[in-house]
Amino acid sequence: MQAIESVDEVFLLLECGGGEAYFGEPVTVLEHSLQSAWFVRQKGGEDSLVAAALLHDLGHLLHNEGEDVADRGMDTQHEELGAAALTGHLPDVVLDPIRMHVAAKRYLCHANPRYFAALSPASVESLALQGGPMTEQEAAEFLVMAHAKEAVALRHADDAAKVPGLKVPELASYRSLVEQLWN
Ligand SMILES: [Fe+2]
Repeated sequence: MQAIESVDEVFLLLECGGGEAYFGEPVTVLEHSLQSAWFVRQKGGEDSLVAAALLHDLGHLLHNEGEDVADRGMDTQHEELGAAALTGHLPDVVLDPIRMHVAAKRYLCHANPRYFAALSPASVESLALQGGPMTEQEAAEFLVMAHAKEAVALRHADDAAKVPGLKVPELASYRSLVEQLWN
């Protein structure tokens, strides 16, 4: 498992690897990450959730499975990869929403049929690999987990962050925010 040891490494990874297409969506991983962070901020989210949004898909940059991985029927568990790589450096209020952003999608598909109907085709494809919508029991267990609410808020920003060409603040503008949370 790849660990990330510094803020420099985080930003390099996003800068260099983030230019790749984002899994069947019309934006790159970096554009998607910046839009996610921006949407959380627009909704008045805490700095910790802005950081979680910026870094939530870092796991996609840590595996070498390529952009068409879901088409090949594989779930890379990028949410676990990303959170694990950052463990020890960021607080749980950042790591938990990253780790739980796929669970939050499965939760929302259970809780809200309109949410499922609005998912992008690529997101529907990966949902099947990620376990499909939660059952009643899984949803009840999810809701009592620490930072479930934050994970759901992150998920909504994540789903919206697929707008081609949207102008949002650049990566460097988040540097001090991440540094302040970093250990
Ligand atoms: Fe995402």
